[in-house]
Amino acid sequence: MGAMQRESRKVSRRRFLKEATGAVGAASALTILKPRWVRGAEKEFGVVVLLGPPGAGKSEQSRRLTARHSIPIISTGDLLRDQVRRGTQLGLQADTYMKAGQLVPDSLMNPILEDRLSQPDCARGFILDGYPRTLAQAESLDALLKRKGLPPHIILLEVPTERLFKLLTGRRICPRCNRSYNIYFQPPQKENLCDADGTTLVQRPDDKEEVIRRRLDTYQRETQPAIEYYARQGRLVRVNGDQPPEKVAGEIESKLASQ
Ligand code: AP5
Repeated sequence: MGAMQRESRKVSRRRFLKEATGAVGAASALTILKPRWVRGAEKEFGVVVLLGPPGAGKSEQSRRLTARHSIPIISTGDLLRDQVRRGTQLGLQADTYMKAGQLVPDSLMNPILEDRLSQPDCARGFILDGYPRTLAQAESLDALLKRKGLPPHIILLEVPTERLFKLLTGRRICPRCNRSYNIYFQPPQKENLCDADGTTLVQRPDDKEEVIRRRLDTYQRETQPAIEYYARQGRLVRVNGDQPPEKVAGEIESKLASQ
C-alpha cells in the first residue's frame, strides 16, 4: 500500500470520527476510539466489515479474527438462516429470496441486524460478515456506527470468479455445529462427516451451480456500488483472498495494524 493511499485512508477515518463524535476534536476522538491492534488491549476494539463475493472466505476469515481478538461475528447470512431454521414468519419470507440467490429486502434484514448489534457483546466492536451488500445498506451502516461511535475497518477479499465456483460447489457444512469444510481444499478427516461431532455434512441449498451464478450476478449488480462508495472515500482495504486461509489472515492482520 502506498503512503498516499494510507494517508488518504487516515484522513477519511478522521473525518468519520469527527462526525461520529460531534464536539470532540478529531485527534482526541482518534485516541479514544482506536482499535486494539493499534493501541493495546484497552476499551473499544472497533468494527471490521468483511466484504467480498460469495465464497470469497468471509466466514473463514471471520472465524480467524474472532479467535484472535474475541469480538463476536455478526453474519447476516447466519442470522437469516437461523430464522429459516426456526420457521419464523420472517424466516419463511427470507427463505424465498435466499433460495433464488437474491438479496433479502432491507425491511426484513435491517431490523434483525440492528437488534443483534444492540446486544451487550457488540459494545466493544464486532466483525460484520455479509453486510453491507448494497449502497443503501452501506449508508445506513455508516449512520448506525456513527451513533455508536465505532469506526469501521472495511476489508475487501478479492478472489477470481472461476475459483469462487469451486469454493462454493465444494463447501459442506455441519448442520449441528455449523463448521464449514471444502471437499477440494479443506476436506474433513472422514468423508462427509464433521471432524468435531461426526454429524453428516450437508450442502447449502444456495450452493447449487445455477443459484451460485445468480448470487454472483447479484453481487456485481447490488454490492459493487457499495464497494465503489468505500473506495471513493479512500476507506477500502483490498486483500488477496486467492491464497491459503492462513496467508489471507496474515494479510488482513498486517493491513489492520497499519491503519
Ligand atoms: P451469506 O451467508 O452471507 O453468503 P455469501 O455472502 O454468499 O457468502 P458465503 O457464506 O457463501 O461465502 P463466504 O465468503 O463466507 O465464504 P466461506 O468462508 O464460507 O448470504 C446468504 C444469503 O443471505 C444471500 O444470498 C442473501 O439472500 C441473504 N443475505 C445475507 N446478507 C444479506 C444482506 N446484508 N442483505 C440482504 N440479503 C442478505 O468459504 C467458502 C468455501 O471456501 C468454504 O468451503 C471454505 O472452507 C473455503 N475457503 C475459504 N477460504 C479459503 C481459502 N483461502 N482457500 C481455500 N479454501 C477456502
